[in-house]
Amino acid sequence: MRFRAICGCIIISVLAIITAVIVVCVYYTNPSDPSFTINDFYVSALNLSDISSTTTAANQTISFDMKLRNSNKVMGAYYDPVRITFSYIPNIKLTFVVGEYTVPKFYQHNKNSMWVRETVATRGIAPYNRLVTSSVFMVQVSTKVGFKSPAYRKKDSVVVVANVRVDQTGKKDSKKGIKLFESGVGDDGLGCLSIQMRLLILSTATLLVIL
Ligand SMILES: *[C@@H]1O[C@H](CO)[C@@H](O)[C@H](O)[C@H]1NC(C)=O
Ligand SMILES: *[C@@H]1O[C@H](CO)[C@@H](O)[C@H](O)[C@H]1NC(C)=O
Repeated sequence: MRFRAICGCIIISVLAIITAVIVVCVYYTNPSDPSFTINDFYVSALNLSDISSTTTAANQTISFDMKLRNSNKVMGAYYDPVRITFSYIPNIKLTFVVGEYTVPKFYQHNKNSMWVRETVATRGIAPYNRLVTSSVFMVQVSTKVGFKSPAYRKKDSVVVVANVRVDQTGKKDSKKGIKLFESGVGDDGLGCLSIQMRLLILSTATLLVIL
């Protein structure tokens, strides 16, 4: 009788520990990077219905609306300064940086979004050819992000890009938001896996000690 009660106790403890480890694994060890989405984009100098866009007095600004989202369920995110770089690609052989904007470092709670709506000064944007129906800009975001978690605090680089097509009104040519993606191949998945493996080994060791 007594033996069975002790057995039951041990089984319940083991189950509780396994559950706790699974919860920690799922919620705390595999943070996904924040996402960056361009909802609005307006290049004054490419608004062809604005007469001044043809002159040297063209308004050299880019106005944008970018959503920064931390979609992690339980982990808040620490961002280093977020550097946004705008490059103009007037034709396939030419790309040049025309403006930058930096969001000062900040902390973002889990499942939160922030919208950055700014107008930045740029240089050198002129309609390359007024017959061209659209122009392409490359938007790059680079920062480092760390997460508030007992298991995972290290800050990692995040570099994502997207091309934005602007039509003859100077605005982004589609209504849909444009999400920025990594241009290269990252090794983030492996990093997370190794942390999960370490936790698994740790929990197995704990089980062995208890049993
Ligand atoms: C483009 O320029 C015209 C003429 O100045 C202006 O009425 C219009 O609002 C501008 N377009 C945008 C999207 O701001
Ligand atoms: C240039 O355009 C932006 C966005 O439309 C506007 O906020 C800004 O006041 C304009 N600047 C000038 C000098 O007209």
